[in-house]
Amino acid sequence: MQTQDLFNTPDAPETTRLEQLKQQIHEHDRRYYVLDEPSIPDAEYDRLFKELQALEARHPELITPDSPTQRVGGGVLDQFASVRHAVPMLSIRTETDSEASGAQNFDARVRRELGLDESAPPVEYVAEPKFDGLAMSLRYEQGVLVKAATRGDGEMGEDVTQNIRTIGQIPLRLPPDVPPVLEVRGEVYMRRADFEALNEKQRAKGLKTFVNTRNAAAGAVRQLDSGIAAQRPLSFFAYGLGEVTPPEAGGPSFATHHEMLQTLKIWGFPVAAGVSIALGASDLVAYYQTIGAQRDALPYDIDGVVYKVNSLALQRRMGFVTREPRWAVAHKFPAQEQLTVVLGIDVQVGRTGKLTPVAKLAPVFVGGVTVTNATLHNEDEARRKDVRVGDTVIVRRAGDVIPEVVSVVVPTNAALAQRGEVFTMPRVCPVCGSAAVREEGEADYRCTGGLFCSAQRKQAILHFAQRRAVEVEGLGEKLVDQLVDGNVIRTLPDLYRLGLSALAALDRMADKSAQNIVEALEKSKQTTLPRFLFGLGIRHVGEATAKELARHFGNLDAIMDATEEQLLQVNDVGPIVAKSLRLFFDQPHNREVVEQLRACGVTWPEGPPAPVTPQPLSGKTFVITGTLPTLSRDEAKALIEAAGGKVAGSVSKKTTFVVAGTEAGSKLTKAQELGVAVLDEAGLQELLNDHS
Ligand code: IVH
Repeated sequence: MQTQDLFNTPDAPETTRLEQLKQQIHEHDRRYYVLDEPSIPDAEYDRLFKELQALEARHPELITPDSPTQRVGGGVLDQFASVRHAVPMLSIRTETDSEASGAQNFDARVRRELGLDESAPPVEYVAEPKFDGLAMSLRYEQGVLVKAATRGDGEMGEDVTQNIRTIGQIPLRLPPDVPPVLEVRGEVYMRRADFEALNEKQRAKGLKTFVNTRNAAAGAVRQLDSGIAAQRPLSFFAYGLGEVTPPEAGGPSFATHHEMLQTLKIWGFPVAAGVSIALGASDLVAYYQTIGAQRDALPYDIDGVVYKVNSLALQRRMGFVTREPRWAVAHKFPAQEQLTVVLGIDVQVGRTGKLTPVAKLAPVFVGGVTVTNATLHNEDEARRKDVRVGDTVIVRRAGDVIPEVVSVVVPTNAALAQRGEVFTMPRVCPVCGSAAVREEGEADYRCTGGLFCSAQRKQAILHFAQRRAVEVEGLGEKLVDQLVDGNVIRTLPDLYRLGLSALAALDRMADKSAQNIVEALEKSKQTTLPRFLFGLGIRHVGEATAKELARHFGNLDAIMDATEEQLLQVNDVGPIVAKSLRLFFDQPHNREVVEQLRACGVTWPEGPPAPVTPQPLSGKTFVITGTLPTLSRDEAKALIEAAGGKVAGSVSKKTTFVVAGTEAGSKLTKAQELGVAVLDEAGLQELLNDHS
């Protein structure tokens, strides 16, 4: 087995190699999962992993629980064993007052309990996001993960070690300098994107979906079959400690909570970027507001923030009341789930004809906005949840995801008698009356009306006019409804034939606004190929794909005429996208739309196709090490890749050049040993210039 690695010594005994591999893979896991900066390509990682698996297959007696191969899951349990927590897992007092006073009251209480008068300086806190997952205690002995336990009742939890091992972000082995006994506490959670993808998969398979990220995470952690748990992507944030070797016995002695968190980070645990030191009540209030404003944009769910007194000495002085520390509080955000009543179920038609059942709701304030509509996704899901008119339901709005109906609250007998009908999807499009069909193996019904369907036309126009496409400022939903419903326009090119008088004649349209739209239309004519291509609304062609297509082909005609095979040459274009593009441009009316748009003056710069001849640095592998004088590592990498070169994380005989800056370490030594050419930044620039 060949690897390109730093420590590769082919003649080392297999047991030594096995240990090297474990260490390297642990380090790569840390870089990938915790630091989010992988240093080797996936393929190389897979090679190391396979080599380790092969060695372990030959020496099963050498398989240890902390081996990276033990992350894949497989064991099945009858039930979880109970674990007594060496140090109880506490909970935190919750402050539900979602105003500034929530933070101010906590600070006032802390100051009172510490006997600080008004003249005393502000108390130092650590403010953290309150992650919406489940608490976990990870016990390491001699640096090896030996037990992972849920909180349970705080005294006794469940042993979920085999499931927790499958979480890439949780280190199985720690650096040599950690205390002999170390319990790290934190939250296991599921990122929103992982949750959405998981539910999408469940839906496609006709399986039950998960209600929210917390339930999905809890369900995965409590899977008796660790093979299933391994397929549910979980993440972890550390926020505290349990039992730790005491300082007298050589353990660490931290002065502050913040210092402890920084150390956990160094030891390889993920600590949230949002963690921050806050001085006094005013900083706590500011933190609450800042994180609250970021809440929707975060990649994971949080249900509030947590304030903790930073000094561990002060924490000890304050102590606990009924299992809750007096030095911490959870300050909650407005709930992301609320109860409301279903007033009706509508069916909406999307740009590609997809029919979506949408529950019309009695207005309810949830996740910071008033919600009146919530998606039911598709017929199967609406039926599985059995949502009917008159039902009381839980609605959820998390992040910028469309609000959805989570479940029906079990109706009382009285309510049962008054429930509406079971939902069925109409077999004709509710907008244009064309047949609605559900293809074999698909979850969605689609209107077959195409551009005959005014709903699809409206959506197509809005898609074209959006900011990320050609951008027609001011052309919103209301105006498009008026234009299409009033038969003022039918197709995209009609937009550009709109005169000032036609616009000004619309209901509630001031002359000034009409003038603005005309100007916005004029401005939108100067666009770019990726924007135009994306704006056409070809199924499966998103912004990124449009960019790749434009870069590869250089001009629209080449794209319109490309065969599926030629399309497959483009980065990120697979068979589904290629087929969809062909299907679109094979329809004469779509080509007609393109021609008419061009005739109306919509233009973009076109260029020759990207060179198909090999790029100057193609086939060359670079390793960057140390600090370069002017380029950041990412910039150097981008330059090399743009010229067709590869950037690897470690030096081997296959490395063409090592680009070394100041403080270049072992990689430079290795390059010298192997006789690999070394460049400085100027040398790299010259190489790039030479070839351009
Ligand atoms: S500290 C002694 N910090 O919220 C304090 N908890 O009861 C122990 N949680 O069960 C908890 N984010 O699962 C702490 N940054 C954070 C947290 C956090 C979420 C959870 C934790 C705990 C519950 C509060």
